[in-house]
Amino acid sequence: GRVSLWGGRFAGGPADALAALSKSTHFDWRLADHDVSGSVAHARVLHRAGLLDDAELTGMIDALERLRTDVRSGAFVPAEDDEDVHTALERGLIERAGAELGGKLRAGRSRNDQIATLVRMYLREQARALSIKVLDVVDALAEQAAAHPDAAMPGRTHLQHAQPVLLAHHLLAHAWPLLRDVERWVDWDVRAAQSPYGSGALAGSSLGLDPAAVAAELGFDGPSENSIDGTASRDTVAEFAFVAAMVGVDLSRVAEEVILWATKEFGFITLDDAYSTGSSIMPQKKNPDVAELARGKAGRLIGDLTGLLTTLKGLPLAYNRDLQEDKEPVFDQVDTLEVLLPAFSGMVSTLRFDTGRMAELAPQGFSLATDVAEWLVRTGVPFRVAHEVAGTCVRVCEERGVELWDLTDQDLADISVHLTPAVREVLTVAGSLASRSAAGGTAPVQVAQQLDRARARSVQL
Ligand code: ARG
Repeated sequence: GRVSLWGGRFAGGPADALAALSKSTHFDWRLADHDVSGSVAHARVLHRAGLLDDAELTGMIDALERLRTDVRSGAFVPAEDDEDVHTALERGLIERAGAELGGKLRAGRSRNDQIATLVRMYLREQARALSIKVLDVVDALAEQAAAHPDAAMPGRTHLQHAQPVLLAHHLLAHAWPLLRDVERWVDWDVRAAQSPYGSGALAGSSLGLDPAAVAAELGFDGPSENSIDGTASRDTVAEFAFVAAMVGVDLSRVAEEVILWATKEFGFITLDDAYSTGSSIMPQKKNPDVAELARGKAGRLIGDLTGLLTTLKGLPLAYNRDLQEDKEPVFDQVDTLEVLLPAFSGMVSTLRFDTGRMAELAPQGFSLATDVAEWLVRTGVPFRVAHEVAGTCVRVCEERGVELWDLTDQDLADISVHLTPAVREVLTVAGSLASRSAAGGTAPVQVAQQLDRARARSVQL
């Protein structure tokens, strides 16, 4: 029959239906290696507390390392009756060390402090690995910016033509949020670096074990300040999940533009064959599936975060079995980003831009009207009047179906005495771009420096 960890108090084993509900090995097995590391560290503090003698410690660590080897090779896997990663590994340990020695390891720890620790170990590793892949997207955006230092495009607000901007400026506007996401994970790690091991079930350990030693061995900065908090809190898991969801959202915003830009109507970009798909029926199709999947996966990543937060709300202290539901959402996020990020950086780095078309559209839709108004302000006209005058220019052009630069000197003078022919110096995209030269602006000199800083930040992180 089924063996459990609480045999003493129970007359019989759990019902099949309970066992089926309870089981988590199909998802928590990915923590097995970390669990073995935790067990090795725990064995050492049991030894230092005099609860294992020298020979027992050697035997225990030897058995655990053999178990680790078998876990890695796949020779040891959870059995049908194993409830979770911890119970499976305890069975594996007892098979290798014998029931007497193997049965000593559980002293002074609980699956509650174990699991809380393992999730943090795993997520800290994953945050580092995923950060590298996020930075690959940042680098791909930065490379495209570097490859198009002078290309102009229509900058938009409300998806309407607003003011001309540099393509490089726009691309870097997508890079900075992703850099901040990586910074968020770096910053998060400070809070994740506290080890719950030693918190026991909730109240701490009475056996003279040293949580700080376990923490140090497992790469943490120190043990949890509070054993209840150590076992019951999952805010660090939720914060990881927020960053993962934010990465999804930031990619999704790039994706939406890639999808738009690849349309016939925009015609700004061509996707590389390797990063687009065809249609089984329409021979001409070239679809932006990577971008669409990124947009779709963002919903999934947000769902994972939402599900986790919903699990946590209303849970009384300390551990509740609901907390077993913390893992699948973040594991799903890790798996999702692991496949999404490389495809996404590949798509970005192979985009081909039709800079001619982008430049042609940049000044259309009267996107230089603000430049006219600001030119007037520089000649001493109050902005309220300047706005009015520039607006009149737009109305006149719209009536005649012409662009701002088509207005004659006479037209300009008729609209306002302030509008001398000198205003033409800002009626070009290049003039408009160059004039926005304050920090953070789209002037080429500023964008070149901005690009250097974005690249330096990526290298630093
Ligand atoms: N498998 C559980 C989890 O993932 C840990 C075990 C704690 N179970 C318990 N009955 N105290 O959270």
